[in-house]
Amino acid sequence: MKKNMNSTLLLLFFFSFAAVIPNLQANIGHFDPYVRKQAEDAAEYNRNHAYVQNPIETVNHVNDHVHKVFAGRNSTKIERKLGKYHGPCLATNPIDRCWRCRADWANDRKRLADCVLGFGRHTRGGKRGKFYVVTDPSDNDLVNPKPGTLRYGVIQTQPLWIIFARSMVIRLSEELMIASDKTIDGRGANVHITGGAGLTMQFVRNVIIHGLHIHDIHPGSGGLIRDSLDHYGFRTASDGDGISIFGSSHIWIDHNSMSNCKDGIVDAIMGSTAITISNNHMTDHNEVMLFGASDGYSNDTIMQVTIAFNHFGRGLVQRMPRCRFGFFHVLNNDYTHWLMYAIGGSRNPTIISQGNRFIAPPDTNAKEVTHRVFATEDVWKQWTWRSQNDLMMNGAFFVESGDITPSLPYSKQDMISSKPGTFVTRLTRFAGAINCFVGKPC
Ligand SMILES: *[C@@H]1O[C@H](CO)[C@@H](O)[C@H](O)[C@H]1NC(C)=O
Ligand SMILES: *[C@@H]1O[C@H](CO)[C@@H](O)[C@H](O)[C@H]1NC(C)=O
Repeated sequence: MKKNMNSTLLLLFFFSFAAVIPNLQANIGHFDPYVRKQAEDAAEYNRNHAYVQNPIETVNHVNDHVHKVFAGRNSTKIERKLGKYHGPCLATNPIDRCWRCRADWANDRKRLADCVLGFGRHTRGGKRGKFYVVTDPSDNDLVNPKPGTLRYGVIQTQPLWIIFARSMVIRLSEELMIASDKTIDGRGANVHITGGAGLTMQFVRNVIIHGLHIHDIHPGSGGLIRDSLDHYGFRTASDGDGISIFGSSHIWIDHNSMSNCKDGIVDAIMGSTAITISNNHMTDHNEVMLFGASDGYSNDTIMQVTIAFNHFGRGLVQRMPRCRFGFFHVLNNDYTHWLMYAIGGSRNPTIISQGNRFIAPPDTNAKEVTHRVFATEDVWKQWTWRSQNDLMMNGAFFVESGDITPSLPYSKQDMISSKPGTFVTRLTRFAGAINCFVGKPC
């Protein structure tokens, strides 16, 4: 018995070690002076400029905007109908309301940059920059990428709004290292990032990822990769995340369809903050979102993430998200499938779950939405994990803990209540990449 337990513990130890160490090393093979400076600048910016002192104000700001969409209309009767939607263009949540359903969207693409809500709400991506058009789906030169490729666009110094000349499939040979002040805007084309490595933001800020299909992402083997005009460096093997956010801030990930990546679909670690993940449709994946990679990395306390209007769909297993240390606002998402649990964490994260719909799986052992690890009950009882206006179906239940208003340093401002989970089918109806055509409402 004792021997058994020891070997289990040992296994667990090796397992978590193996999972944690590569993340913390950033796949940076050589921490040269350029990368070191970048890391220091990003840490200073994230802590002193991107992190907000009063997260409740941000929580209320999003909820205010959701309420405005429904002002004067209290009916919950409009439900998601089965099958594909063929009616006139509908914008059903406050982010979409801000830009969608205009026939001139292709002439006014940058309007999107003013639509983000939540902790990522100051993200403007490449709004101040020129357009860059991806014409070439190849990815053959990682140090001197060819003009016309996606990789050439994302490493530029100046802000850029990156669009696609036509539908294409891009197989990334290694991680795509995205520099600051970029928008990748897949609208008007059917863009699949698949069969290779994923997207990485490391020590950067101000990036929008919109309207892409990201799926079947594999670990890259590493090598020399350019991350800016001024620098390339040696990177070790990547984990196979769809989107990896590392020491970065002001990131907005909106309206993407994502599935089946080797590691996480979206992972944000190493003191990343000011992130909004909205309107995405995720399917067929095990560990969906990881926020904070290590129980020992308390600098993740500054992590602030909004997860809103997403559809967590078929074939998902766990981590929607799995959190450490920071503040996580999980608002008006539709959880229609999970196999193990929906929301988990360790190390005292604050989780405000509002107005989601949680539909538990048939498995009687997997009805609990929440999952706490590496803490005894007397410890996790102190963590602020609150559920408000969530719609629980098929036996789903959320085990709450802590105070509704997190203790100081947060202000005593009251949290306003969210739109209830009964509205979620409407709010998330158009989650995922939208099929937009030039000249038609999108
Ligand atoms: C909708 O509900 C709110 C709160 O319950 C109420 O104050 C408001 O008057 C209602 N609006 C309509 C149009 O019924
Ligand atoms: C954590 O943040 C502090 C303050 O910014 C910094 O001095 C320290 O090096 C960071 N720790 C790690 C492990 O990065």
